[in-house]
Amino acid sequence: MGRSSLYVCQTCGAQTRQFFGRCSACGSWNSLVEQVVTASDTRRRRPVASAGAAAGAAAGAFGAPLGAADLLQRPRRSESIHTVGERPLQRLGSGYGELDRVLGGGLVPGSLVLVGGDPGIGKSTLLLQSAEAMAARHLVLYVSAEESAQQVKLRWRRLGGAGSQLQLLAETDLELVLQELESLRPAVAIIDSIQALHDGELASAPGSVAQVRECAAALARIAKRQDTALLLVGHVTKEGTLAGPKVLEHLVDAVLTFEGDRFASHRLLRAVKNRFGATHELGVFEMRDRGLVEVTNPSELFLGSDEPSAGTATIVACEGTRALVVELQALVSTTSYASPRRTATGIGTNRLHQILAVLEKHLGLPLSRFDCYLAVAGGLEVEEPAADLGVATAVVASYRDLTLPPGTVLVGELGLGGQLRPVGQLELRLQEAARLGFRRAVVPKGSGLGPMAAGIDLQLLEAGTVAEALVLALGVNPADDRA
Ligand code: TYD
Ligand code: MG
Repeated sequence: MGRSSLYVCQTCGAQTRQFFGRCSACGSWNSLVEQVVTASDTRRRRPVASAGAAAGAAAGAFGAPLGAADLLQRPRRSESIHTVGERPLQRLGSGYGELDRVLGGGLVPGSLVLVGGDPGIGKSTLLLQSAEAMAARHLVLYVSAEESAQQVKLRWRRLGGAGSQLQLLAETDLELVLQELESLRPAVAIIDSIQALHDGELASAPGSVAQVRECAAALARIAKRQDTALLLVGHVTKEGTLAGPKVLEHLVDAVLTFEGDRFASHRLLRAVKNRFGATHELGVFEMRDRGLVEVTNPSELFLGSDEPSAGTATIVACEGTRALVVELQALVSTTSYASPRRTATGIGTNRLHQILAVLEKHLGLPLSRFDCYLAVAGGLEVEEPAADLGVATAVVASYRDLTLPPGTVLVGELGLGGQLRPVGQLELRLQEAARLGFRRAVVPKGSGLGPMAAGIDLQLLEAGTVAEALVLALGVNPADDRA
């Protein structure tokens, strides 16, 4: 196969035969990326074009609308959507319920899944463990491009690997990996990592955009052709751009990110994109000395101390189809700076600013003279606005030095006018809170609970505004200076 390189500007699309630091067409810097042109590509394309032209000529005036007779004569490549055969999606269990949940029920044959995450977070561990579990029933190939076969074996032993049929290949050359995939035809193949693979036809260094894209495209072609499910490991670079999984996102069927706090032992797996399932599903694992263990009851992880203290509030966050009870802690103290400090971990700082402004305006609390620190227990990132009421309550409780009655959860979004807005999946949240022994929930008025709520053993306190909600939650009026 004759191949040659072409450099394509990622900004304007201009092509050159030679690499330049700056695109001569649009003037942008460092935008040229090497691409391979395969001779067979051009060969394959040409007959298609001439067949189309011949059909057009036979049908009469070129470009004229086609009649029904023409449709019959035309060589057919498309078909009616009704006649397309339907094949139920078969899924391979990954051996881990938490991973299957994030994948949408298991691995789909022929699909490409990218697992991204910071170096050292546990991607290799996760994939080696599930490779071992899957190898009990399927042919699985683990391609280690970063570590030697001995290193992988050591890790496999440490993880308790025993009698599976796992195949191992320590190789960085793309061509050899492709050959092995073709001769072995495994049901599942794991490439650890895509950045370490190298296509000898390209001049660029391993890990560069051109290499990562070429290698992934070649692997994708073979995976689709022989129905091999491919799991690719991708490192996230600091910038998240160069050779990062961003380059691959459009090419793969699912993108999972593996994240966690380096100082904590739990790891969160999320789907950012999934063609075969829902996104925003969350899988929770814990890193132990013998590998990753599934956490099936994650709320316990995100519930802090059992002793209630001033400035803590409990919310119920939703991640996909799963509700998590999470503790928030706030610290409000007199500032000694010209502009007070606001620091939030696990919640966007802008969100905190907005909630503080609402409390200042609608409850008359002079928070602009106080520093405010907010933290989510367990290192979880809570993005949803349903956490607003919990944040507001924790802040006010710290400001007034109040402790919430035990067993209370708070759910609700704050409007800028001080009103409390309904949130989605309220029943799911309340069920999880009740399951964990919570007894009271402050929720937005008019949430319209369905019949599912009938069985939930929880006292519901409905509030229309944040002021009402705080009175219900704290038992006193925080806007009253005697409180
Ligand atoms: P690894 O899977 O190599 O990370 P990645 O492939 O994402 O770079 O995991 C690295 C960390 O996990 C390493 O710091 C050690 C830790 N670890 C354990 O705590 N227990 C174990 O059983 C294993 C295998 C690793
Ligand atoms: Mg690794």
